[in-house]
Amino acid sequence: MLTAPRETLLASMTLDEKIAQLLQLAAPFFKGSEHEGQITGPLAGLGISESTAAAAGSVLGASGAKESISIQKAYLEESRHGIPLLIMADIIHGYKTIFPVPIAIGCSWDTVLAEESAAIAALEAAVSGIHVTFAPMADLVRDPRWGRVMESTGEDPYLNSVFARAFVRGFQGKNLTEDLSKIASCVKHFAAYGAAEGGRDYNTVNMSERELRELYLPAYKAALEEGAEMVMTSFNVVDGVPATGNKWLMRKLLREEWQFNGILISDWGAVKEQIPHGTAEDEKEAAKKAIEAGVDIEMMTACYPGYLKELIEEGSVNEGLVDEAVLRILDLKEKLGLFDNPYRAADEEKEQEIVFSKQHRDTARILAEKSCVLLKNEGVLPLQKEQKIAVIGPFADNGDILGPWSWHGSKEDAVTVLAGLQKKNLPEILTAQGSHIETGSEEMLKEAEKAAEQADVIVLALGEASEMSGEAGSRASIQLPPVQLQLVQRMKAMKKPIAAVLFNGRPLDLHGVIEHCDAVLEAWFPGSEGGDAITNLLLGEANPSGKLSMSFPYSAGQIPVYYNNYNTGRPKDAPDAQERYVSQYLDIPNEPLFPFGFGLSYTAFDCSHASLSSEILSPQGELTVSAQVTNTGEYAGEEVVQLYVQDLSGEVVRPLKELKAFQKIELAPGETKEVSFTLSEKDLRYYHSDLSFKSDAGKFHAFIGGSSRDLAPLSFELLHMKEEDMK
Ligand code: GLC
Repeated sequence: MLTAPRETLLASMTLDEKIAQLLQLAAPFFKGSEHEGQITGPLAGLGISESTAAAAGSVLGASGAKESISIQKAYLEESRHGIPLLIMADIIHGYKTIFPVPIAIGCSWDTVLAEESAAIAALEAAVSGIHVTFAPMADLVRDPRWGRVMESTGEDPYLNSVFARAFVRGFQGKNLTEDLSKIASCVKHFAAYGAAEGGRDYNTVNMSERELRELYLPAYKAALEEGAEMVMTSFNVVDGVPATGNKWLMRKLLREEWQFNGILISDWGAVKEQIPHGTAEDEKEAAKKAIEAGVDIEMMTACYPGYLKELIEEGSVNEGLVDEAVLRILDLKEKLGLFDNPYRAADEEKEQEIVFSKQHRDTARILAEKSCVLLKNEGVLPLQKEQKIAVIGPFADNGDILGPWSWHGSKEDAVTVLAGLQKKNLPEILTAQGSHIETGSEEMLKEAEKAAEQADVIVLALGEASEMSGEAGSRASIQLPPVQLQLVQRMKAMKKPIAAVLFNGRPLDLHGVIEHCDAVLEAWFPGSEGGDAITNLLLGEANPSGKLSMSFPYSAGQIPVYYNNYNTGRPKDAPDAQERYVSQYLDIPNEPLFPFGFGLSYTAFDCSHASLSSEILSPQGELTVSAQVTNTGEYAGEEVVQLYVQDLSGEVVRPLKELKAFQKIELAPGETKEVSFTLSEKDLRYYHSDLSFKSDAGKFHAFIGGSSRDLAPLSFELLHMKEEDMK
């Protein structure tokens, strides 16, 4: 516990000491780090003095219990007040046991497993000396050219919100002080970072406040309602002002309207980036704008230590702003119990025993099985055990399947597709790369043809290298590299059944693959146990149950394409639509190649008897939407039953469909289950042009089924309040 009230401690600190608490630096700046003093690359340009670094209040990244303990110990030996360091890191989808990337977890529609994956990540990180994770990333995404779609759970505000809550519960648990297996979570990137124009990372974001509130803010808010301790500012502007210096976004919305009083940390360098943004003349103005906007911790630049003291002494900045930031930081250190035990759960022995355990890896495999999405299957999958398999492609035996945010993971320890298949006593497995990810040769192609020649079936493992997505991983083309498309053609010419398995961090334009392969399984970056998960799916020991949480465009020219779109005044599919003068492309369809909510199974599900408990919904009442779901195939499987609503007439245009609920159910062959959802007036509220959040009486459609496409409408009416009073 704090030995004295926090205000007493604050009062005993010098201004320099207070300002230093607001700085976060990477581990090499700290004594005791395994890389102490290795200030190279982007770190070198920061111009951070040793004395500033020595007093900084928190560390970005520590590589294990030993280093974490060593840094903390060295720091406290020199700390006048004994205020311990906060140690933070990016534990996005696993620490050493790497789970599928979040876009894949979003496709699992399994929030229980998502929460479990975060809990395992928290435990492994906690015993390795981490106190805070920079997750969940709750950015809504609609543009697969943006590399960081892999870090999001997708294009829907409701689905992103339920996953954000699940991740926060998994990371933080119910009592951060008592439960040392948990770590604090920091929701990011606030706000709307996923809407970068052109899908180009760090680019401008431009949208109305109404759209921001309707689509992009709900998942951040859900994470904070679930108790996330911190928020990270985003690199982009919000309505023309960089988020990191945006008083409206931080003070008015986050702190006043949402009542958030936790720590706000800038993303890497974002305080100083106000200068290139053009809203701060120099680091002094950048510091002033950021502290006035409410940024408590400056990450990896030195505007605060460089200029806050001067700004306060000249009367330009109120010292109280620094005090409130320091108090928030002391509060989190107190909540984490660091004043009692600055090493918290860091424990080298436990680290050896717990990290990357079989039990954790088993969970990672199950989540990977449930995150893969079967996009096509024309009689090829599941494979038969007596078949001779040729595993071909740059991902046939490639451990780069952990995704771009897997610092502590080990590609060498990742189970590849080939390794997974080789564990099964299959008759014969042939293999050849056929091409590298972006380069190849005729010789490699011939090797692949030789392997394919001897096989009964080809498993074609294709995809993107992890650095082709992730931060700064934007691509204008979202097709597979040409050498891989050439490999597909040459395999197609072998006239053998082909099952493609895709490893990628974004929805792709699958032309050149989808038309030539008999089956396509989207595996994303499936994590440490990817090869075992994919093997179980290929052999039918697990049945694919994933549903897309982000649309696959027909081509990059269609972007942005998403399921919850507006009808426009000239809908192409209107009964009276003209031939030409409608909202359409002359050269491609309007619909995505694969829509949100879509995913196949080895079995088939029939959703029938969809009905409403009433066609009238009173403002205080509820109505039930239900259907019978039957497994009409021969495999047991899971179906994600989705509930959508359409508001047929709003004060502003309303999406053709909005996801409101879902249930993932398991059905044996021939089994039928009744699935029902409850709707109330609250589910029909939206932001009006005056930003009021309310519903309108009027006509609605409800839809229930296993995808966002091809659903029959069920009509109902929401009554006016006054009509309700009369009843
Ligand atoms: C990066 C990312 C952010 C991450 C931070 C610390 O630039 O934008 O998501 O948490 O820096 O690594």
